[in-house]
Amino acid sequence: MDSILVRGGAPLHGDIPIAGAKNACLALMPATLLTDGPLTLTNSPRLSDIRTMTTLLRSLGAEVQSLQDGKVLAMSSHDLTSDTAHYDIVRKMRASILVLGPLLARTGRAIVSLPGGCAIGARPVDLHLRALEALGAELELKDGYVHAAAPAGLKGGKVSFPFVSVGATENVLMAATLAKGTSVIENAAREPEIVDLARCLRAMGAEIEGEGTPTITVEGVDALNGATHRVVTDRIELGTYMLAPAIAGGDVTCLGGEMSLVQSFAERLQATGISVEETGRGLRVARTGNRIGAIDVSTAPFPGFPTDLQAQMMALLTLADGVSHLEETIFENRFMHAPELTRMGANIEVHGGTATVTGVAGLKGAPVMATDLRASVSLILAGLAAEGETTVARVYHLDRGYERVEEKLKACGADIERIAA
Ligand code: EPZ
Repeated sequence: MDSILVRGGAPLHGDIPIAGAKNACLALMPATLLTDGPLTLTNSPRLSDIRTMTTLLRSLGAEVQSLQDGKVLAMSSHDLTSDTAHYDIVRKMRASILVLGPLLARTGRAIVSLPGGCAIGARPVDLHLRALEALGAELELKDGYVHAAAPAGLKGGKVSFPFVSVGATENVLMAATLAKGTSVIENAAREPEIVDLARCLRAMGAEIEGEGTPTITVEGVDALNGATHRVVTDRIELGTYMLAPAIAGGDVTCLGGEMSLVQSFAERLQATGISVEETGRGLRVARTGNRIGAIDVSTAPFPGFPTDLQAQMMALLTLADGVSHLEETIFENRFMHAPELTRMGANIEVHGGTATVTGVAGLKGAPVMATDLRASVSLILAGLAAEGETTVARVYHLDRGYERVEEKLKACGADIERIAA
């Protein structure tokens, strides 16, 4: 297992290119199952999660060609050969559940392994299942698999989510495009990834209104066509790299970044005293003074502060002047980066869903362990500012969501390298 070695202290200057959004791509790829036409995605990120989804789609009989060094995915589900998404693939990546809706809508049958929990929480899929039942799906749970059937096809219905779920919104949105009649999704997720998926489905011939608002209305159509769609910029990678000059010092432009993707996050970052400017090339982030001001953060569904940037912001706040509070409202166990940051000299107390971070004068490099995707990158950020060497082990977590992280940071002056195991 590879690890990443960071020697802290170097301020960062230059440009960081931001890739296409992992979490958009993981919903866009299953959309190929909705049509027998060719679906091509451009600006696709080169990540292990994308390769896992590719393997899953191929196991169903879809053709997935990775072109231009992985930046283009040319897909076709003209000849599906299986209706089963097996546990050995699904257990590697929860987003596999996103094949359930499209497969059921297209073929009337789908057998998908339950994903099981993960490091950050139980992460059930009950909202996905209830939503598909509202469209007429007949579901049975057997031997750890969901057996879904819609022999006469899905029919439009009303879905009202008790709380926001990104994945459940994506699953039912895709299914509704081929349901007979009108579907209304209430309390829908509003993330940019949902908007991007709706735009792609519309390009395929779907009739969708309201994406990005709490209520999405879909008029089912008989069939969808192929399309070519550019994956939206990854707002979580963007926010992550905005924090690199913030914590290490310096002045970096995140190429392709748009304020509209990270409004709440950028506002909190500016509240710490970091300057964020939208230029024609992207978002320019600079740390002018030496102080980082303490702030409070509470995660929320979009347009609130993203839970996927909570760990990274905590790394910055370990060096703030004063006491900060981070409240995690989305997942039940998303502070596993805290004990690792504490090993680097941070002062963090976790009580339930709130972490209290008392800023310290400096961090010390240490060997630390990655536990989940975003926790691992927060340790890299801390290493950029720490005195001495930080070695982050188990970086396969990192490779799920960040392409070539050491190259992107090294290009801006970071002293960072990957140590092959
Ligand atoms: C998506 O996960 C993202 N993953 C996550 O990013 C992100 O943290 C999350 O949305 C929230 O923004 C992808 O898009 C592939 P949810 P998802 O359904 O869809 C509970 C990353 O680091 N819930 O919005 O699984 C759930 O347990 C990953 O890139 C149910 O109870 O998240 C959580 O507490 C991590 N029942 C809350 O809702 C359900 O049926 C929000 O989950 C579904 C969810």
